[in-house]
Amino acid sequence: MLAPLQGVTNRALRACFIDRVRPDTVFTEFMQARNQGPKALSAADRREAGAVHGNVPLVAQLIGHRPEVLVLAAQTAQAAGARHLNFNLGCPFGRHTTGLSGGALLSRPDLLPEIVFALRAAISGSFSIKLRAGYDDLEQIFSLLPLFAAAQVDFLVLHPRTVVQKYGGNADHTITARVVKETPLPVIANGDIVSAAQGKEILQTTKAAGLMLGRGAIADPRLFSRLRGLAPERPNAGELQQDFVDYLGDLLTRYEPLFCGEQQILAKLKEVPAFVTDPRLLPLAQQLRRARTLQDFRALLSF
Ligand SMILES: Cc1cc2nc3c(=O)[nH]c(=O)nc-3n(C[C@H](O)[C@H](O)[C@H](O)COP(=O)(O)O)c2cc1C
Repeated sequence: MLAPLQGVTNRALRACFIDRVRPDTVFTEFMQARNQGPKALSAADRREAGAVHGNVPLVAQLIGHRPEVLVLAAQTAQAAGARHLNFNLGCPFGRHTTGLSGGALLSRPDLLPEIVFALRAAISGSFSIKLRAGYDDLEQIFSLLPLFAAAQVDFLVLHPRTVVQKYGGNADHTITARVVKETPLPVIANGDIVSAAQGKEILQTTKAAGLMLGRGAIADPRLFSRLRGLAPERPNAGELQQDFVDYLGDLLTRYEPLFCGEQQILAKLKEVPAFVTDPRLLPLAQQLRRARTLQDFRALLSF
């Protein structure tokens, strides 16, 4: 699965991934459940909602904390065509935390049963939850598993960090392995997967039902193909660089009609090299981040 990354995994980037490496499932960026009657979702979010993107299942992700507003948002998304809905219990940033949405909601586990049962009742297709292992304690998830099973959630996506950790330290996939053992629900492992070898090891050691790839795949979409044995597991520097240049060139062509104005297109493109960690790509990634014009960016891609 391709992870949702707010501000990054827009429609054009998802299409680029679908055409190049076809993830088995893609997610929308989170959609804020708003307290405004029939306009429970913004017009832009309603346009994003759908059952598939191309021919790949699309999961619409909701964020919020009031059960009645979330139910309205779920109904609105479904009326707009969504079939798979996901509830965000992981986002560690911004007003979503102060407003008790996303990961912050894990600090109020007493609110969860009403929300989870209400969403399950309102969602006719698949209902999944994407969550951190806990608010400030990695063991918290174990107290929530009975609720998720009782509510017949279809699957969980687990990022085994706490909310207060944000992105510090490492994802602790020993927690994922224990969660897989303890719950009857399928668990998708997410967090810090940047190489095929590592992804395979996490699948093997946790017995997770699948993997969700975020930052690692944004930097190297072929991580999907590497995990499937369809591309070199350890690409050489030349292959890696050529792939990266082709991918950014492809993205540039897709961003031009979607975002208006050179500076906006450039800013959106620059988000991708920000996720590069492979030392063999870092010099190029840093140059791309410093490009001042689209022309400079393009010139760097045709070195
Ligand atoms: C810039 C950014 C935006 C994100 N936006 C979302 C989001 O909209 N919904 C969500 O569930 N998670 C979001 N996440 C979390 C990722 O989906 C993922 O769980 C996290 O990055 C760990 O996976 P990774 O190490 O493979 O990136 C975001 C992460 C980043 C870095």
